[in-house]
Amino acid sequence: MNIYLIGFMGSGKTTLGRELAKALDYNFFDTDEAIEMRRQCSINEIFANEGEEYFRDLETRIVKDLWEEAAESKKNKEKKIRGKVVSVGGGLPVREENRRYMREAGLVIYLSAGIDELVKRLSNDTTRPLLANADGETGLREKISTLMQKREDIYENAADFTLVTEDKAINDCIDEIIAYKDALEERKNMKILVINGPNLNFLGIREPGIYGNDNYDSLIAMIEEHAKEIGAEVECYQSNHEGAIIDKIQESYFNGTKGIVINPGAYTHYSYAIRDALASVADIIKIEIHISDVNSREEFRHISVTEPVCQGQIVGHGLAGYLEGMDRIVELCREK
Ligand code: DQA
Repeated sequence: MNIYLIGFMGSGKTTLGRELAKALDYNFFDTDEAIEMRRQCSINEIFANEGEEYFRDLETRIVKDLWEEAAESKKNKEKKIRGKVVSVGGGLPVREENRRYMREAGLVIYLSAGIDELVKRLSNDTTRPLLANADGETGLREKISTLMQKREDIYENAADFTLVTEDKAINDCIDEIIAYKDALEERKNMKILVINGPNLNFLGIREPGIYGNDNYDSLIAMIEEHAKEIGAEVECYQSNHEGAIIDKIQESYFNGTKGIVINPGAYTHYSYAIRDALASVADIIKIEIHISDVNSREEFRHISVTEPVCQGQIVGHGLAGYLEGMDRIVELCREK
């Protein structure tokens, strides 16, 4: 995956990008430089001779090529290439299609810097066509803030992560980016299995006063949405049969599952077989869920034979309990 550094001109994309590429052993790529190489003339000349729209089309061509290359490398092991740290031209993220190409090919980081800092960094820079003919420092400040107003929200929305660069040493910025990238990768390997036992397919039909009106499908939609938000991979499984649930738990031993969120339904209260299956997958984090507050219901529901072999139990939080269970797994995995 590539790392795209976006932000206003002068925000440090090139300087930081080169150092980041070294630290990660990635290649460094600068979209402005690539355009100048392809066209064999400077950005100022392209703006003067062909106009801004023409330049923007060249930018789109470049991010599209990078996107195609990344997609090919993902599909085809023989075409695996080293990741790139890409220093992205300041106006490139303005086009929606460019933002999509970047997001799909990697991680987008917005390097933010305040106006005072940018004025300081750009006051002697003559290579920026959009700042040309600024009338002294005040003129430059005006030009920067007008552009900034147009672009700041675009940068923030386009980015997976905003890094405030001001008053920060370059090494600290690099450490922050690497920590973010590592956390993201760790989550990508976060495979969670959600198991629902007997009668939970009847949510919305069974005792709505206790279990609510939402049906099983809406529970699954919530779980899948949450998995996307936390960057985890999720599989949902429901069965009314004890043996099938045991088979599913055993399967998780072989397929890289990191955590199980389980609502064993009534089996909670008496299935030693499910308890033993959960205990067998010792390296997998297990969180038991009950939609209702079992402890304030009939006495037989106060006992859970499965809870002692789980790392946690969430009771009476309704369907939200499943999402809390997933979050708990992510937390515990990180501590591990
Ligand atoms: C339940 C509670 C169990 O006692 C009951 O048998 C269920 C659902 C819950 O989610 O609250 O089926 O696990």
